[in-house]
Amino acid sequence: MDDYGYGYWNLVVLSIIFFGLFLLFIPFKNKSQRLPTSIYLAFIVALYTEMYGFPSTIYILTWFISFKNPLTHVSGHILASIIGEYLFFTLIYPLSNIMMLIGILLILFGWSKIHKSGGELVTNRVYAYVRHPQYLGILILTLGMLIQWITIPTALMWPILLLLYYRQARREEKEMEERFRERYREYKSKVPMLLPFQKIFRSATEKFEYYRDKVNLERDLAELRYNRIAKLYDLINYFWEKLYFDRFRKDILRNVKGKILEVGVGTGKSFESYPPNKDITAIDISDEMLKRAFNRAQHYKGRVVLRREDVQHLSFEEEKFDTVVAFCVFCSVTDPIKGLNEIHRVLKEGGQLLMLEHVRSKNPVLGRLMDVFNPIIVRLGGENINRDTVRNIKNVGFKIVKEKNLIYDVLKEIICVK
Ligand SMILES: C[S@@+](CC[C@H](N)C(=O)[O-])C[C@H]1O[C@@H](n2cnc3c(N)ncnc32)[C@H](O)[C@@H]1O
Repeated sequence: MDDYGYGYWNLVVLSIIFFGLFLLFIPFKNKSQRLPTSIYLAFIVALYTEMYGFPSTIYILTWFISFKNPLTHVSGHILASIIGEYLFFTLIYPLSNIMMLIGILLILFGWSKIHKSGGELVTNRVYAYVRHPQYLGILILTLGMLIQWITIPTALMWPILLLLYYRQARREEKEMEERFRERYREYKSKVPMLLPFQKIFRSATEKFEYYRDKVNLERDLAELRYNRIAKLYDLINYFWEKLYFDRFRKDILRNVKGKILEVGVGTGKSFESYPPNKDITAIDISDEMLKRAFNRAQHYKGRVVLRREDVQHLSFEEEKFDTVVAFCVFCSVTDPIKGLNEIHRVLKEGGQLLMLEHVRSKNPVLGRLMDVFNPIIVRLGGENINRDTVRNIKNVGFKIVKEKNLIYDVLKEIICVK
């Protein structure tokens, strides 16, 4: 662990070859494409030379600002030394890996569509969200790398990469317009160049409106988002579940008593953590999530009733339940105060509300970052990452008897009584 973590030149070469190979999936025969391609190559050469070969950034920082680094490999993550290893390795590091994976998938999916098109204009699948998924892929991949292992040369190169790929995308647009004329102009008017969020959000809202017109029901945007994501939900959360959530749920659910209501049960992950022989009513706004919860409920040794309900308008009479459970729900409920008021109404006097919730950090830098990234995360996954759920709970009249930080001050166990 405390060994000098550099000088592994074989790893430097292997990593450069591995990430360099992705260039084969992006056309770079035109003269104009050579510059962004070369800067991408320079970026990965600089990065992996420092990561496994020689940590020049660390030496420079030590020289200029007395940056202390024991020169082991793990402590080479400079961002970890700035924001703290715990926060870095529980949140930022996994996030950067996800970004790198998304980047690689965008490059490969983009290539597979273009490859199969035989020179025709491609406007479906990943191209229905952005006009240049492969360039977006390169930018997300390198940004993930940068967050994971920031160095002086790569931090200087990334903005240049951004500029060059943006310029390249614009250049190609002109060629495409000349080639496909009206068809390309129409495509361009509907699909964004590099940032898909507006498109994802717009398409969700359009489908939602459509849904509402068809069924003629007041439906919530969270329902549409979770119906859409249900298929992938367990897969996306697999890592967090194994690492933390399984354990946290078990600890919290030891305290359940009497008649239980679980709100936002999702795919029913909590059923395996309840003590046996309990009387559980579990609700969720999304049919697709409930379908999955139904399969898990079959294996629970106790009574489970599943219902499609909106926590903002519960159909239960007042003071029906002894315990209400909410695991990562109030990040996605559209009007959390309304939902918490409803829980307050259906809980008996002295009844308990057990929660596992992620909230906005009080750390000014992280909190601000959460504000900045919230619109993106909420549109992609349906979850707000900057809610002040503790304040909301107090505002509706609950008494908080336990507030424990489980991951930094972001994921919390909260126990309240009415
Ligand atoms: C992040 S998931 C958590 C699922 C589950 N509790 C878990 O821990 O895996 C949030 C869940 O809350 C549900 N939800 C969102 N708004 C809701 C509402 N207004 N009423 C009921 N459920 C809601 C979503 O459908 C989704 O299943």
